This record gives sequence, C-alpha cells and structure tokens, in this order.
Amino acid sequence: MTKDSFPILGIDLEFFVRSAQTTAQFLVDIFGFTEVAYAARTYSTSRLLVQNDIRFIVTEGSGADSPVAQHVAKHGDGVRDIAFRVPDVREAYKKAMLRGAIAHMPPHYECDHYGTVVCAAIRTYGDTIHSLVERTRYSGLHLPGFEAVWSSPNPGIGLITIDHMVGNVERGQMNRWVKYYADVMGFTNLISFTDKDIKTEYTALMSKVMQNSTGKVKFPINEPASENKSHVDEYLHYNGGPGVQHIAMETKDIVTTVRTLRERGVEFSTIPRKYYDIVRKRFADVERVDIDTLAELSILADRDPDGYMLQIFTRPVVDRPTLFFEIIERQGSQSFGHGNFQALYEAKELEKAEREQAERGTL
Ligand code: FE2
Repeated sequence: MTKDSFPILGIDLEFFVRSAQTTAQFLVDIFGFTEVAYAARTYSTSRLLVQNDIRFIVTEGSGADSPVAQHVAKHGDGVRDIAFRVPDVREAYKKAMLRGAIAHMPPHYECDHYGTVVCAAIRTYGDTIHSLVERTRYSGLHLPGFEAVWSSPNPGIGLITIDHMVGNVERGQMNRWVKYYADVMGFTNLISFTDKDIKTEYTALMSKVMQNSTGKVKFPINEPASENKSHVDEYLHYNGGPGVQHIAMETKDIVTTVRTLRERGVEFSTIPRKYYDIVRKRFADVERVDIDTLAELSILADRDPDGYMLQIFTRPVVDRPTLFFEIIERQGSQSFGHGNFQALYEAKELEKAEREQAERGTL
C-alpha cells in the first residue's frame, strides 16, 4: 500500500449565506441536522450543524463591509470552504505549496480556553477555498470562538456522510482543476465522462471524478461541453463563476429518507414516466429494488458490475438556480449515475414518440 501523501481525516463544509439563522433552521427542520455550536465574530456569525459524519457551518456577514456579505452579494448563498481536517497543517500546507497550490492563508494558530487549532487555506476553483485544520490540541466543538448551544435532539433523516461534492468550472477549465487536485493533493481520476460518450440534453457537460487515496473524498468536476447552453452554463451565470454545484449525502435507506423529505415539502427533479420501464428491464434480476416505489418517489437507479446505486436530486436549495442536494444510497456501485443520462434521454424520446402517435390518432 502506498503511503497517503496528503492525508485527509474529514471535511467541514462552510456555506456563506444571507441569514445563518434561516439556513440553520431549514437544515434542522427539513434535513434533520442538529445545531450544536455558535460563534459571533466582528465580521460574521456562524452556526455549526451536524448529522452523523456530516458537518455544515453556515456563516453570515455582519454589515455590508463584511467579506462574507460581499461573497454572498456576488455568488448568492453557497459553499465557500471545503475544509479538510488534517493531522499536520504546517506539513500539509508546505507540501501543497511545493506542488503548486494557490495560497490563501499561511499556517497560523487560533486559541481559546479549549486549546489551540492550527489553520491554513489554499484556493480552488472560483472563490472556493480549502481550509486545512488541525485540532489535535483542541477539545472544543469546532474552532476557537464557537460555543456549544442547547438544542433539542434531532433524530435526523438518515443522512450519514458526504458521498461527493461537485464543482462546476468554465468551459476548457476542467482539466486544469483535475491536474490541480492530482498535483497538489495526490488525487486520482476515478471516472471520466465526455459528451462523446452520450450527447443528450441531459449531458451537455464533461465530467471527471477525482478522489483522494482513501476514496473517501470524491470531487467530480464538470465543465460545459456543447455550444448550446447547458445547465453548467446556467450555473456559472447565476453563481457569478465557478463553484460547488451539488453536495451528495449518503443514506442507507433512500426510500425512507426521501419520503420524509417529500412530507416536509422538499421538491425534487421530475422524471419521465417511461424511465421506469427502462429501469425495470435493467433491474429485472435485482429483487431488493421495488421499481414501483422508486417511480412513486422519482428516485433514479443505476448499476455497474460492482452493484447498484439509487439517487435523487433536489431542486435548488438556495434562491438562485445554483446549489442543490443529492441523496444517494450505494449498494456496491461506485457509479455517479452517468448511466441515467442515457436512460432519461431514451425515456423522453419514447414519450415523445408516443405523444406524436397519439396526435396522429394511431394509438
Ligand atoms: Fe452527484
């Protein structure tokens, strides 16, 4: 086994938002998070929310001069920092810089009565950063300045961990950022997907999935592919440049998780009815998957030689048509659902043909 040259212990995901209180309440009431800590600083206030291994920080600016408020004015609510918890920040930062990382903040200490944290940060696409955080000499919940808050225990909705996080970058820039993750952090390319594989209205993008040496951190990176405006172009327009497009959270029981979210009013992408005829054929030998239930809830299914996966996409969870969530259940498969592009396209074509036949009066 090769030694991990850039060990990552976990991820803390920070969103810059207009209202930390409103976003926190949304994540608690709808997505089952528990608010555990709060920090008030000169230019910002933050709330830490957790559900199993998922740690979200929502931060709002205090006053128009706040860099947080300026970030939100430019991009809308969205992801600012995909922070890596690492065993040694100075070592990680030094290595990253030697390998061509773009500096954001050199290593420095932050202290309070819970101990000392070492922090640094490097940049990635758009205005997104990767903080590096070392908490080996810290007993607090997050970072200095955060204090525990009382909140009633939230049973959650079965979200366990972040499966992957997708970044959208400009046309022609995907390989630049693929190389950045490979050079700086030793990530490798798990899957590549180009518009030459399948070109449909669902696939006007190119995508490469980069993962770290343990396979626990997975970053698909998309760029628009066709000349026609794709949803990646739309994202880049409304987000004011590159950024995180969606966050996929894993559940062991997607049916229960999605039922709960639907009861709470969450809206998901609609799926053509015919798609489930295709899935029924593809999953004919998989007894555990009830296609009627998937169809009822609009859950997508994909499979490969290693197993299968079930996934669903929310509509944007912010005001602009930018950031959304994915809920995913993996049963062996490491797929990212690229097989669904073809299936969705075929389903739409079948429905179109049926409609045209009906209009001609032959059905
Ligand atoms: Fe995804």
